Amino acid sequence: MSLFNVYPLNPIAITKAAGSRVWDDKGQEYLDMYGGHAVISIGHTHPHWVSRIEDQLHEIAFYSNSVIMPIQEQLAMALNDISGKKDYQLFLCNSGAEANENALKLASFHTGRKKIIAFKKSFHGRTSLAVAATDNPGIIAPVNETQNIIFLPFNDIAALEACFIEQGAEIAAVIIEGIQGVAGIHEASDAFLQAIRKACNDFGALYIADSVQCGYGRSGQFFAHDHAGVNADIYSMAKGMGNGFPIGGILIAPHIQAKFGMLGTTFGGNPLACAAALAVIEVMQNENLLIAADQKGSFLINALKNIQGVKVVRGRGLMIGFEMEEGLEDVRKVLLNDLKIFTGEAKPNVIRLLPSLAITMDDINLFLTGLNKAIQLLKQKAT
Ligand SMILES: Cc1ncc(COP(=O)(O)O)c(C=O)c1O
Repeated sequence: MSLFNVYPLNPIAITKAAGSRVWDDKGQEYLDMYGGHAVISIGHTHPHWVSRIEDQLHEIAFYSNSVIMPIQEQLAMALNDISGKKDYQLFLCNSGAEANENALKLASFHTGRKKIIAFKKSFHGRTSLAVAATDNPGIIAPVNETQNIIFLPFNDIAALEACFIEQGAEIAAVIIEGIQGVAGIHEASDAFLQAIRKACNDFGALYIADSVQCGYGRSGQFFAHDHAGVNADIYSMAKGMGNGFPIGGILIAPHIQAKFGMLGTTFGGNPLACAAALAVIEVMQNENLLIAADQKGSFLINALKNIQGVKVVRGRGLMIGFEMEEGLEDVRKVLLNDLKIFTGEAKPNVIRLLPSLAITMDDINLFLTGLNKAIQLLKQKAT
């Protein structure tokens, strides 16, 4: 049987990982500035994470959500603590798309309305409503097409207000990434997030903060949306939450009431996933990773701005995107093939850095040296 061929693959087989390093099947070492697409929050195979999961395996790996699971309650307490969203409620699932799907569905149940505002270039996942709210017709199957999503320009307060004035009574929710990831690292402005909060309050809609990629400390705050100083009604989380163990979830404001059967899942919140997520929070707290993301990210962003050949740098904390000057577009390939450094990409020409929040300064400097070398190599090839 062959694998369903949906991913354009790098011809590299990664078989081992530790911290910010990965190794291929031939023993070649790579520096991981990509974090497996923003998933590796505390570092690959962190010893505390490994032993937390191992210990849990010996206790219980799975039981259905029909019984009390104390470890889910522990995770809810830990999330209250680290996120500062004190009276919020937690619903657990398995991925980012599922988190957004549940968030959107919950907003519709809560308001009794159907329309969702999403933004140009957004990415919210590949399940039916999450993909419908994603601004990429290429991944929306005919069955996912719906008239219920309104796409507005990103960071355009006037367009948002006009839409609410016209259709406010029908709008269930606004969904927005605090920093658009797949689009190439574009931050929502504080003023825009504040305007969303106000419009949702005025018209009885819910503000959904898609924090799947920009959350979990990556921006230097627990949620990138926190930089704007307003609370969302629902935060969706996934990627960094389990450091690679599949888990997602939504934090739900206290004014939204649960009803039996409203949401549900077989695997969501299983004890193994909760153990992984608890390990992540414990390491984030013990190693001060939010502060580290803020400080190391600022250093990296400033350093990138001073590299000749780098055209634009965007982002916050350790969620960074940059573009190269003309003629240097292949820098990402050179970094991977010649210098053994993984980075991410966004179309058309953005390089994304999404490393572990525990990356060392030595590794950051190694990356910067590598980038300079890659630029020199490309310039030599061109002459
Ligand atoms: C902002 C955002 N939301 C949702 C998702 C979907 O997450 P998943 O792939 O876990 O379903 C992603 C994935 O890249 C994302 O970046």
